[in-house]
Amino acid sequence: MLINNDTIIKDDDPRIRMRSEDVPFPVPEEDRKLLTEMMEYVDKSTNEEIAEAENLRAAVGISAIQLGVPKKLTAVIIKDDEGNKVCEYALVNPKIVSQSVEKAYLESGEGCLSVEAEHQGYVYRSARVKVKAYDLLKEDYIEIKAEDYLAIVLQHELDHFKGILFYDRIDPNDPFRKEDNAHPIE
Ligand code: NI
Repeated sequence: MLINNDTIIKDDDPRIRMRSEDVPFPVPEEDRKLLTEMMEYVDKSTNEEIAEAENLRAAVGISAIQLGVPKKLTAVIIKDDEGNKVCEYALVNPKIVSQSVEKAYLESGEGCLSVEAEHQGYVYRSARVKVKAYDLLKEDYIEIKAEDYLAIVLQHELDHFKGILFYDRIDPNDPFRKEDNAHPIE
C-alpha cells in the first residue's frame, strides 16, 4: 500500500472513528506486510529530504485505521535529535495492562497524521503505562514499560483503535486547564 499524506485518511472520513479488531495468530501475511509498510513510513517520515520528495508528514507513530484498515496494528519509532532510533516497535494487538494515576502531557500539545486543523490544548494521559503486545520486529510477545513521551505516544496510538482522536481529550471549555498530579513533557 502506498502510504503518504494523500492516502492517510483524515478526521473528515468516518472510518477514522471505527473500532479496530484483534489480528488473528499466526499473523496473516497481509497484516505483516501492512505493518512493515507502516514502519517504513514512520522511519522515512522523519528524514526531511525523503519526506519532502514522497509527501510524508513527520510522525513517531501510525495505526492501521489511519489507512482505513480496522485492525490492531501500530508502528512506533522514536528518534533522538541526531536521527538515531531510541526505540522502535511493530505492534500487533497492543493492549494497556496497567497505567499510573499520575498524568503527563505534551507542553506543545499533540498532533496526528489524520488531523490537519490545529487543536490547541493539553491532552492528559497516564505518565506510565505497561503495554503487552506481539512485536513483529522481535517475532515475540513483549511487555513495554513506558513512561513520559513513549507512554503518551502509545496511548495516542491505542486510542486510534477505539476511534478516539487526541482533541477529543482536550477540555473544550478550558483547553489549557492545569490538572493536579500531572507533569509537562518537553
Ligand atoms: Ni494519531
